[in-house]
Amino acid sequence: MTTSEIRAAFLRYFERQGHLAIPSASLVPFEDDPSVLLTIAGMQPLKSYFLGAASPPAPRMTSSQKCFRTNDIDQVGHTARHLTFFEMLGNFSIGDYFKDDAIRFGWEVSTEVFGLDPERIWITIFEGMPGVPADEEAFERWVALGVPPERIQRLGDPDNFWKAGPTGPCGPNTELYLDRGEAFGPPGGPASGSDRYLEYWNLVFMQYDRGPDGSLSGLPAKNIDTGAGLERLAAILQDVPSVFDTDAFRPLIAWAEGASGRAYGRDARDDRALRVLADHGRAMTFLAADGVRPGNEGRDYILRRIVRRAVSEAGHLGLEPEAVAGLAAPVVEGWGDAYPELRERAAEVRDVIGAEAEQFARTLSQGRRLLAEVIERSAGGRVRGEDAFRLHDTYGFPLDLTLEAAGDAGLEVDAEGFERLMREQRERSRAGAGAGADGVADGAAALAREAAPTEFVGWDATTADTRVTAAAELGDGTALVKLERSPFYAEGGGQVSDVGEIAGSEGRARVIDAFRLGDDQVLRVRLQEGALPVGAEVTATVDAARRRQTQANHTATHVLNWALRETLGAGVRQAGSYVGPDKLRFDFTHRGRVPAETLERIERMVNERVDQDRPVGWRIMGREDAAEAGAIGLFEEKYGERVRVVDTGGFSKELCGGTHVSRTGEIGPFAIVSEGSTGAGARRIEALTGTAALAYLRERERELQAELAARDERIRQLQAELKRAKSARTDVGSLAGDAVEAGGVRALVAQVEAADMDELLAISDRLKQSLGDTAAVVLGAASDGKALVVANLAPGAVAAGLKAGAIIREVAPIVGGGGGGKDAMARAGGRDPSRLPEALDAARAILTADRGS
Ligand code: ALA
Repeated sequence: MTTSEIRAAFLRYFERQGHLAIPSASLVPFEDDPSVLLTIAGMQPLKSYFLGAASPPAPRMTSSQKCFRTNDIDQVGHTARHLTFFEMLGNFSIGDYFKDDAIRFGWEVSTEVFGLDPERIWITIFEGMPGVPADEEAFERWVALGVPPERIQRLGDPDNFWKAGPTGPCGPNTELYLDRGEAFGPPGGPASGSDRYLEYWNLVFMQYDRGPDGSLSGLPAKNIDTGAGLERLAAILQDVPSVFDTDAFRPLIAWAEGASGRAYGRDARDDRALRVLADHGRAMTFLAADGVRPGNEGRDYILRRIVRRAVSEAGHLGLEPEAVAGLAAPVVEGWGDAYPELRERAAEVRDVIGAEAEQFARTLSQGRRLLAEVIERSAGGRVRGEDAFRLHDTYGFPLDLTLEAAGDAGLEVDAEGFERLMREQRERSRAGAGAGADGVADGAAALAREAAPTEFVGWDATTADTRVTAAAELGDGTALVKLERSPFYAEGGGQVSDVGEIAGSEGRARVIDAFRLGDDQVLRVRLQEGALPVGAEVTATVDAARRRQTQANHTATHVLNWALRETLGAGVRQAGSYVGPDKLRFDFTHRGRVPAETLERIERMVNERVDQDRPVGWRIMGREDAAEAGAIGLFEEKYGERVRVVDTGGFSKELCGGTHVSRTGEIGPFAIVSEGSTGAGARRIEALTGTAALAYLRERERELQAELAARDERIRQLQAELKRAKSARTDVGSLAGDAVEAGGVRALVAQVEAADMDELLAISDRLKQSLGDTAAVVLGAASDGKALVVANLAPGAVAAGLKAGAIIREVAPIVGGGGGGKDAMARAGGRDPSRLPEALDAARAILTADRGS
């Protein structure tokens, strides 16, 4: 059975048993389930049904769910069975059937649908723990189905007690194992831990809810949750040694073999790299298709990590980093039918992976240079833990690569020192997370009262010589500091806080945030060196590049506000804004969406004002005077009697407390990225300036190209499908009539049109179906200068003494080829399509020979 056939057969069986087949949920769990980063089981999307918090679409459901587990990520490649991404087949009952039926279904599917030998199936059941009794019901049930008691073993928590996470639905389970024979390990049953027994299905009796304190309470109903690993089932049913040898994975391995010129099964280290590429290639494609983007946190980091590991392993095979993006193609090809989102987002997925691989390639070359320096410096000794840590932490350079390079140079690495620094960093970030944002703001307010208000000097300046007037440690490596004079802008009026540095003779710190407290401010810093006690003389320096970008966006916001009022009318009122170094966001009151042409006009008007390079200035004046001068923004009460008015180029006057560029030309190109509703009765425009705007336009262009390419590809696929569908219909309709009765079978031998083996198989399947239980179908086709032959027998034909494998062995040599298969189905390819008629004659002779029945 192919992987697709296994998936389909499983779902079909449970549909026949009254289950609703539900599509796989995303790998990204629902927002209200923070217990995991990625979906780890088929039950995950159904959790609220198990808990009784929502009612299910049907009490019986079945699915093939996309899953991802990170716990064995480092094992992948080293073994025959570990995977990160996998597909979990499952059947679920929400308060409907329970143990009896679940076990019976498990047995029927194993022995009847999948045809596993009952003698080779082993079972484990739950042995009990305080508060939860041993599962004698499951034992009795298995025995009643004919499993001998000596093949049923008892295990405890966690083996046979399943939970989706530290809290939530859980329960005892029973597992099905297949004995793969002595070649795989010693005897003793699954409880012995021998590799000879491969777990392929877990049936969980979900009946408890685990609270945060570990206590178990009963769920509203008794439920069933099962999970069978599709890839393992395929390895078992295809009788191959590893998941990587199954039909689904072979094209991925073949892709990596083709790209690298290395063959699978020759060299252990190459095999590891090929397996990692196959697994990670599939995993990254599915993750990216579900919207995960490479990053430094949570699930984003998981994607980054697997792309990076794939790049490293690709490098081992002599492949360029960017090559890993090519892995997406065979994944889309192999899984696109079962998971259509892969086809829809194919171009996007390739771009995401390609960009991350490229970025990592740069990291690697930078890291390699540094590593070379480190290695040189460490000659004759060992690589210091600090160096390995810095490579990892600052440059994202993987430790394995450092270890490898050090090993090559005959050096050791202080791995203990490295681990210690990693631990310290983890503790630091935990402490940081615990320091609660509200607590810090309260601390800032208290500190502000300890000294005279800070004088803000950052309107034009980005640096100032000043003095620390108050300070307090926060206990997480950061501190709050108050300065006499400060160039740091503290968040307000939409503009984000500045970051930067303060340094003096006694110490140095990074400024990571600034709190605005009325007209006063307090900074949050991370100490880098020494100390910054009260009274210390320091130089305060704002990160000037970041400030410049922020200012460009702020002035652009004023120009945009002006252009909006010019085009949409003076009724437009600002309703909020975000002005950062990365982008600007402007919310304003307006009814209905702004048409695309108007947006274009607004964008052009802003760019024209930028081109005119007009001066930007500000003045402090009385509120009345400002109103008279036509300044907008008077609705804000908090400005007091004297207000600051920013004049942009003589065409716009706005009350504003933020910082700005000094001429509009400094804004650079301006691009509107989106226009939409805020959901709060206002419209929102997001826009970019300067190099960010340019990069965005370039990216848009690339996306359009990719979309065009994807559309062409879809058209091509549709045309091919259409062609296939057409040929299949004519073939089956007329051919079935040519079948002849002979020796208790309905024999049909014919040469047909088929583009490839898959299509030939599909035609033979349809013919077999239409000819009934004694069908014996042998088809030949010429394709691409090759001969293809298939023998496909219904059970009645096998019972009548025919063997597909034997037929194929007989006829394949005639077309200059070889092949084989099982009793029910076998296939062959040959070099000589001109002799197909002869080969089919030979097959006809076998089918119609007297078999004495
Ligand atoms: N949820 C169960 C598992 O993942 C079936 O093993």
